[in-house]
Amino acid sequence: MTTPIIVDCDPGVDDAIALLLAFGLDMPIAGVTTVAGNVPLSLTYPNARKICELANRSDVPVFAGCPRPLIKPLATAEDVHGVSGLQGADFPELPPAKNKQHSVDFLIQQLLSAPEPIRIAALGPLTNLAVALIQRPQIAENIEQLVIMGGAMGQGNITPAAEFNMYVDPHAAHVVLDAVLEAGIPTTLITLDITHQVLTTPKRLAQIKAIGNPVSTAAAGMLSFYGQSDVARYGLPGGPLHDPCVLAYLHSPHLFTTRPVAIAVETTGEHTIGQTVVDWHGGSESSTIHMAETVDADGFYSLLGQALASFS
Ligand code: RIB
Ligand code: CA
Repeated sequence: MTTPIIVDCDPGVDDAIALLLAFGLDMPIAGVTTVAGNVPLSLTYPNARKICELANRSDVPVFAGCPRPLIKPLATAEDVHGVSGLQGADFPELPPAKNKQHSVDFLIQQLLSAPEPIRIAALGPLTNLAVALIQRPQIAENIEQLVIMGGAMGQGNITPAAEFNMYVDPHAAHVVLDAVLEAGIPTTLITLDITHQVLTTPKRLAQIKAIGNPVSTAAAGMLSFYGQSDVARYGLPGGPLHDPCVLAYLHSPHLFTTRPVAIAVETTGEHTIGQTVVDWHGGSESSTIHMAETVDADGFYSLLGQALASFS
């Protein structure tokens, strides 16, 4: 499919792997918008540029977006003192930034002017997209498909109730889900219930390491550090690869199954803010919001391996 894709992200290692998967599969990435999330915007923006340089895709425009959520103060995924958000690999020096446009303005400009509808891959807190939809609601008419990494029906990963992206900016998530329902935008959520089945086990990591080109070696280095907190916390055999599932779904939807759901995001609640409240049986076939139900994890890692090998 050639429909352009805008990737909104907060790199973060899994965001970085998602971009490398997209570039390796030659997916039509029209631009990368960044937002504060895993680490502050002062890191997520250059991190996205570093990944584009690593993949020799400096042709892809990268934009800095919202430095904080709509209402909540910024809660990054980790204590940022001394971390870059892309541990485990070395990156080339960045040339001076070319694009001074704000992520929100780029989203609006692209969605208002694009000759054809655009797909959006949302890999971080939904602040940029929410602000764009508030500023110019008519952009919804030109969103062909929205795929979000976020939410959980089961345990959260930042609180027992909430997944990180939804927790950081639950108000933005509420605005976006409201808008997609209103506009009837086909939207799919890839939640922790799925991504915790997509684990970078030692065997899979060894397969990535064996590819042996500079990009796959950088990816293996990042993945070696990645998910150590999840491994320790959940006793998983490897870090869950959240964000690459979004690009894999856009490229190869047959690796997943989905079902229509009714969903709301908790925006209050001392212990529950950011929780995605899902009515698993409440979505009708006409519902434009689906949740991924199953994933072919081996098929995903085969696709990721294909993408990383393409940089040889
Ligand atoms: O909960 C996982 C999500 O939060 C991923 O997008 C990860 O990059 C972080 O943003
Ligand atoms: Ca992310």
